[in-house]
Amino acid sequence: MPQTNLSDSPGPGTRGGGGIVISARNLTKKFGDVAAVDGISFEVRAGESFGLLGPNGAGKSTTMRMIGGVSRRSSGELAIMGLDPDRYGPEVRAHLGVVPQQDNLDEELRVRDNLIVYGRYFGLPHSYLRPKADELLEFAQLTDKAKSKIDALSGGMKRRLTIARSLINEPRMLLLDEPTTGLDPQARHILWDRLFRLKESGVTLILTTHYMDEAEQLCDRLIVVDKGRIMAEGSPAALIREHSTREVLELRFGSERNASVAAELAGIGERQETLPDRVLIYADDGEAALEQVSARGLRPLTTLVRRSSLEDVFLRLTGRSLID
Ligand SMILES: Nc1ncnc2c1ncn2[C@@H]1O[C@H](COP(=O)(O)OP(=O)(O)OP(=O)(O)O)[C@@H](O)[C@H]1O
Ligand SMILES: [Mg+2]
Repeated sequence: MPQTNLSDSPGPGTRGGGGIVISARNLTKKFGDVAAVDGISFEVRAGESFGLLGPNGAGKSTTMRMIGGVSRRSSGELAIMGLDPDRYGPEVRAHLGVVPQQDNLDEELRVRDNLIVYGRYFGLPHSYLRPKADELLEFAQLTDKAKSKIDALSGGMKRRLTIARSLINEPRMLLLDEPTTGLDPQARHILWDRLFRLKESGVTLILTTHYMDEAEQLCDRLIVVDKGRIMAEGSPAALIREHSTREVLELRFGSERNASVAAELAGIGERQETLPDRVLIYADDGEAALEQVSARGLRPLTTLVRRSSLEDVFLRLTGRSLID
């Protein structure tokens, strides 16, 4: 399996965290006058699971494509394992496994042959590829589908096959662009389990998502991006600690009343957000906040006390909800 650098102290939740494998400085990508990626800087360490969390159009895929050496940056600096992907595309790609946002499996080929033919692009010999393909099908829980046509696979199976394919060259780093978007909860959990195993084996994961639960599950550290810029950076727990309260009280007064009742809630909790469908009260003790609401004679239709999530962080930072 991939080599890991054990010389440095590991980061939280990582095994063999170590040297810097990706370094971006003022990374920018313009399409015409529009900066899809607008001067972002970040570093990823070996063995780390690093996320880009942001809404549609934030620039996540554009960033991933620059890292993967398939899109040239407009300005700034970028190094993958110390190499500039614009100058050393093939060398960089040899180190990477890439799972693009849209599955691009070869529909003409059967499941197992998708792995073998992809491996041939890297110049890997059949003697290596045959057992490797079988090992990866096992890993992706697709052994019984080895001879199936691609269009006979479910969305989750296609995603697992694309991940299996990305591992054919035993990459030390895996780029995953929205690995579970569009999948049902069960298919997502199977994929998360597979990604956990890769992480445990020391593979560096770089993933984009607009699912906060996925980011919380998989990422040691992440950047929150919006409109091509970094809004915040840190571990999920640290981001929540820094930008939100421990708990959130959600109140629904009915769509007509949420906005008008907000004034009557003034002073309860540390901060409030009024959304079209509910009012959020940020407080370390949600139940205590709810008692204050009741004491004012207010009767919400439904109430919910929950822990703060990355969704709350995003709302705080951008004033918008992460889910469109
Ligand atoms: N080839 C292109 N030509 C012109 N504009 C582009 C191109 N690719 C991306 N963009 C624009 O760049 C911005 C960022 O797009 P990008 O695909 O990186 O976003 P994203 O964060 O991956 O969004 P999503 O969550 O929808 O996948 C968008 O405004 C998009 O329209
Ligand atoms: Mg995208």
